[in-house]
Amino acid sequence: MKHVTTATGAAIPALGYGTWRLSGPEAYRGVREALDVGYRHIDTAQLYGNETECGQAIAQSDVPRDQVFLTTKVWRDHLDRDGILRTTDESLARIGSDYVDLLLLHWPNARFPMEAALDALVEVQQAGKARYIGVSNYPSAMLAAAAARAPITTNQVEYHCLLGQQAVLEVAAEHGIAVTAYCPLAQGRLADQSVLAEIGEAHGATPAQIALAWLVGQEGVAAIPKSRNAERIAENFAALDIALSADERARIDALPKNQRTVDPAAFAIPWDPS
Ligand SMILES: NC(=O)c1ccc[n+]([C@@H]2O[C@H](COP(=O)([O-])OP(=O)(O)OC[C@H]3O[C@@H](n4cnc5c(N)ncnc54)[C@H](OP(=O)(O)O)[C@@H]3O)[C@@H](O)[C@H]2O)c1
Repeated sequence: MKHVTTATGAAIPALGYGTWRLSGPEAYRGVREALDVGYRHIDTAQLYGNETECGQAIAQSDVPRDQVFLTTKVWRDHLDRDGILRTTDESLARIGSDYVDLLLLHWPNARFPMEAALDALVEVQQAGKARYIGVSNYPSAMLAAAAARAPITTNQVEYHCLLGQQAVLEVAAEHGIAVTAYCPLAQGRLADQSVLAEIGEAHGATPAQIALAWLVGQEGVAAIPKSRNAERIAENFAALDIALSADERARIDALPKNQRTVDPAAFAIPWDPS
């Protein structure tokens, strides 16, 4: 299993299982199936409403808890100190554990000073409730400011073959911070890309697998594809076995990199040009 290591000492399994829009039994089943085929990194959030099912699926699987890297995220409506401390405890109660591996601020929110939110995350970490802490949807300048304030392990951002994140990647590399790629399959919109299909033919692989191999083949990058389908859950995990040539990588690098599926403007976050 490939891991992304960070300056904070974390070793994040490079391919994780995303759970947004999975709820109830479907979330439970998805996480169980992911663990069965070898995923050791599960991504949930307060917003997703499935922390309970994620916790249960991990606890009832054959995989020891300490071999699973579990991330959850504090929603952006309660980024004051009390909100972070309270909702983290609520998350842990739902998950049925006294810690998570990684606790992220899900989105910035100008209503709450970033420094106080990061200080609260550090407090949670020092209390042993999160092994590592980090952020999500932080543009490069905010990431640099956050790194100066707190031991940031990752910045989770939208990143895939059709969306560049050069500025974030540069700041992350400078600070030894992992970039966790969300929507790594552009929410399923990559299947039509003929370049991915052509490269896939050479590897006996699907376009989705090539898209994931392109991400996890990058230094410091993890990816968290989501699927509700057992075959695709396994297919995505098998992308770890694909090594792309420099020429293949260059062809994917050359695809247009401006197609965003999640719009940061909805939360008034000025993003880096892609
Ligand atoms: N931090 C944030 O703000 C944030 C935002 C968005 C997402 N995330 C995280 O990132 C995870 C992944 O992002 P996402 O779920 O939005 O999108 P995604 O993983 O890019 O794409 C999921 C979509 O692709 C389809 N799919 C999955 N595997 C496939 C394959 N092998 N071939 C073809 N289609 C495939 C899925 O359909 P089926 O389910 O039918 O297979 C689903 O429609 C989320 O689940 C969540 O954990 C975080």
